[in-house]
Amino acid sequence: MITKLIRINPENINPEDLKEAAEIIKSGGLAAMPTETVYGLGGNALDAEAAGKIYAAKGRPSDNPLIIHVCSYEQIFEYTRDVPEYAKKLIKAFMPGPFTIILKKADIIPDTVTAGLDSVAVRFPSHPVAQELIRLSGVPIAAPSANLSGKPSPTTAEHVIDDMMDKIDCIIDGGSCEVGVESTIVDATGESPEILRPGGVTLEMLREVCSDTEVDRNVLSLTTPNEKPKCPGTKYKHYAPDAEVTVVEGSRDSVRTKIKELIAANRGKIIGVLTMYESAYDDAVIISTSSTNKGYARDLFGALREFDKLGCELVFAEFCENDGVGLAVKNRLYKSAGGRVLHTD
Ligand code: TXA
Ligand code: MG
Repeated sequence: MITKLIRINPENINPEDLKEAAEIIKSGGLAAMPTETVYGLGGNALDAEAAGKIYAAKGRPSDNPLIIHVCSYEQIFEYTRDVPEYAKKLIKAFMPGPFTIILKKADIIPDTVTAGLDSVAVRFPSHPVAQELIRLSGVPIAAPSANLSGKPSPTTAEHVIDDMMDKIDCIIDGGSCEVGVESTIVDATGESPEILRPGGVTLEMLREVCSDTEVDRNVLSLTTPNEKPKCPGTKYKHYAPDAEVTVVEGSRDSVRTKIKELIAANRGKIIGVLTMYESAYDDAVIISTSSTNKGYARDLFGALREFDKLGCELVFAEFCENDGVGLAVKNRLYKSAGGRVLHTD
């Protein structure tokens, strides 16, 4: 398959330029689109066959459901049922934005999309290109992150090209993604909201609207083989580059001392260090990330992909826990490290 590349300036969208991609979606094909979180691999959410193509292109297990993307409040209620009052408050507060809500599904959503679950994940992205594509397509768009299953999510069109070239019909390049980690997923099928995956909408923000919001325990631990997580995707290896990642967590000096020891202990290997403290290390490939939570989130996946391109075998990632978006960074880092976390303080 030849993948068509379409470049769009999000600040000045000419709908004509998106028509072809919308036709692709309408006719059951796949188009990768930018969103404010990460790039999505889109197909018609009302078409079971298109959903099947999404799973195939990603190499994704079919028991891992997709998020459907809409471009209006009306659509949220059209594809769901029994929406609790607290969920309506969250929808009003955080949509459009980097936020996904899980609700009971309407019958029109095919089982392939929800992997047989009775619920559906719905997201109303704020990215103008995503909104316009959904509008022109006239259908909700099912879109997981546009990476190969298990790899870090794509935050630029180049990342999508690396993973999806010749596997899908088209890739829309709308520049780099602002948030950089996937949306916050909140389960709203129970008595009170529960975060299944942290993201740009933080626990603190959610609690301002619904004070009884909780965080699912899987957010910071790896699921054991016999456990059935509420968010099916969390049980798979995730966000992992080819390099073996170890998180080194703590204050600046103790982290630096530890990483120096680790570099010395692994001589002969190609080592990468992701530094949030702008530390210098000899004998390692250094990539700097912003020391703010927001900046770290934005830079993380791109940096992990870059280490692979540079042939790194081991990556040590500096990290210091913070609140806010820090929880999302911590969740992605811990998972990409498969739980290899060293606390230095
Ligand atoms: O920011 C995002 O959410 C991006 C962009 C493209 O919108 N999408 C994204 O999709 O991250 P994906 O498929 O990579 O992650 C969706 C997660 C998976 O872990 C999946 O198991 C979970 O959402 N999920 C989907 N439907 C669910 C449901 N009904 N109940 C529980 N978890 C669900
Ligand atoms: Mg994903």
